[in-house]
Amino acid sequence: MTKKREYKDSYPDKKLYIPGPTEVREDVIEAMCEPMFGHRMDRMTDLYTTIVEDTKEFLGTDNDVIILTGSGTGFMESSILNLVDENVLVTTCGSFSERQANIADRLGKNVDTLEYEWGQAVKPEDVREALEESETEYDVVTCVMNESSTGVRNPIEEIGDVVADYPDTYFVVDAVSALGGDYVDIDEHNIDVIFTSVQKAFAMPPGLAVCVVSDDAYERELESDSASWYGGFQRTLDYYDRKGQTHSTPAIPIMLAYRKQMKYMLEESHEARDERHREMAEYTREWAREHFEMFPEEGYESQTVSCIENTQGIDVAETIDAVSEEYDFVFSNGYGSALGEKTFRIGHMGEHDLESIEELTDAIEDVAGL
Ligand SMILES: Cc1ncc(COP(=O)(O)O)c(C=O)c1O
Repeated sequence: MTKKREYKDSYPDKKLYIPGPTEVREDVIEAMCEPMFGHRMDRMTDLYTTIVEDTKEFLGTDNDVIILTGSGTGFMESSILNLVDENVLVTTCGSFSERQANIADRLGKNVDTLEYEWGQAVKPEDVREALEESETEYDVVTCVMNESSTGVRNPIEEIGDVVADYPDTYFVVDAVSALGGDYVDIDEHNIDVIFTSVQKAFAMPPGLAVCVVSDDAYERELESDSASWYGGFQRTLDYYDRKGQTHSTPAIPIMLAYRKQMKYMLEESHEARDERHREMAEYTREWAREHFEMFPEEGYESQTVSCIENTQGIDVAETIDAVSEEYDFVFSNGYGSALGEKTFRIGHMGEHDLESIEELTDAIEDVAGL
């Protein structure tokens, strides 16, 4: 049974290299400290329309954008409710894509899975085969862009191109640990729904989720009688159209932080952020291969979180503790009991740069005696 553990008045600051939440700029945190205002005031319309339109500009999409209080998991659920009448094909290759299958199953949908071993990536040709050979007409195909549990980056662009050949099938992408740190041309690749949580590569405090919705997906939801209330595309987007606000009270302080951080993101640009993340990922992979091995299938390594196979048999938990104690840096063990000690993960997303990643790898080398 969980017992109360008193929250203390102070904790040492730790630099975050976990796969989210990640480091947030100080002035972005400070942006939250404003006197409160009402969610039906004009000021709210100024704030919400600014962050929605800036997000569209940053992502370079003509699709609609929803920013809702909650976390990415909310859109894993509502996209199924909104778009799946009966059948969904969920591609799975790790914990978060398996969560997507579990959610759809709990919502009473008929779930078929295209399963891959953890560490392997989803292949477009397998998706084509599954769609061609199945007797089932799928309402939706889902895919995770970046499987944070294994550090695999799936080729969602090519998978989107495959699903485009099936006009009655919608393509839903969980981009929670990738969007903002790994470029994707949403409109070019038939991505009907793509969502993220702001505490990852957007480098904001947690509490908001962002979802980009195509016109087709919006129209499709109109035919559904089981659409989500809270995360319904129609309800949220119509409310935006009419009032420029959200349908219920949002986490206003986090939206203030969002506004500030999105200015930095626009200044840097989607392409330049992608390039910075590529450099960090390439450096981390090179370092990992010098001392260990990479866990993901070669050619599908993530640009935002490196999952490293512990080929040296270091004590992962002990190393994490020692790096935290001596350097105040925190990185992650492997996901779950199966990968906990077998792998470890370095989150290189958000506001990190090559120099800050080198500081971490130096610290690991020092502590683990590499
Ligand atoms: C790929 C992926 N999907 C979904 C989630 C769930 O996101 P949230 O915790 O914001 O609901 C995570 C969280 O780490 C994730 O990495």
